[in-house]
Amino acid sequence: MADRLRIGVLASGGGTNLQAIMDACREGRVNAEVAVVVSDVQCGALERARRAGVPAVWVDRRDRERYPDRPSFDRKVREELERRRVDLVCLAGYLRIMTEELIAAYEGRMMNIHPALLPSFGGPGMWGRHVHQAVLDYGCKVSGCTVHFVTLETDGGPIIVQRAVPVEEDDTPETLAARILPQEHQAYVEAVGLFADGRLRIEGRRVRILPKAP
Ligand code: GRF
Repeated sequence: MADRLRIGVLASGGGTNLQAIMDACREGRVNAEVAVVVSDVQCGALERARRAGVPAVWVDRRDRERYPDRPSFDRKVREELERRRVDLVCLAGYLRIMTEELIAAYEGRMMNIHPALLPSFGGPGMWGRHVHQAVLDYGCKVSGCTVHFVTLETDGGPIIVQRAVPVEEDDTPETLAARILPQEHQAYVEAVGLFADGRLRIEGRRVRILPKAP
């Protein structure tokens, strides 16, 4: 198999998106491998990495001696990514606001998954159940998820893949989140696979998906 794309995943939660990406790599559905998982907290994602034999790095956000500020924290994160020669960074429920330096270091090769159809219901404060509550409060009939490249504008980067789901009359934030999550897994695996195959081309705000090589 050609030299596989090396992915670094940054996560702070249960890690189901990480799991979907690791499974797709292991089963050969995506020509890539997860080279490292980094988290700011001890979380399910680190546990999943350990179980899969993937280097799992906890950069303790509470260690104010080592990481007194955001730049020192992100320097450590970047060091861990570079040590493993990461080609693509995937944010998967990563709750840290990153420095401009870290984002700039991976311009065009850092993705994020957001549990709504951006640009709606994105931006600061829009994470987890807050997103789904806002969608329900607004009375939307459709929601979904978005995989996008990360830029300095929170949730504002060029969109790679989106998946839509219906909003049901009796939905709660939890039932809506549960309907969207499996779509996130499929959307993220699709986006990473396209990147690994060199089929994504960023043209301003748009991401062109190139045809499969003959
Ligand atoms: C997902 O809902 C994702 O959209 C959001 O955080 C959650 C991560 O879930 N960014 P998991 O940790 O991948 O299970």
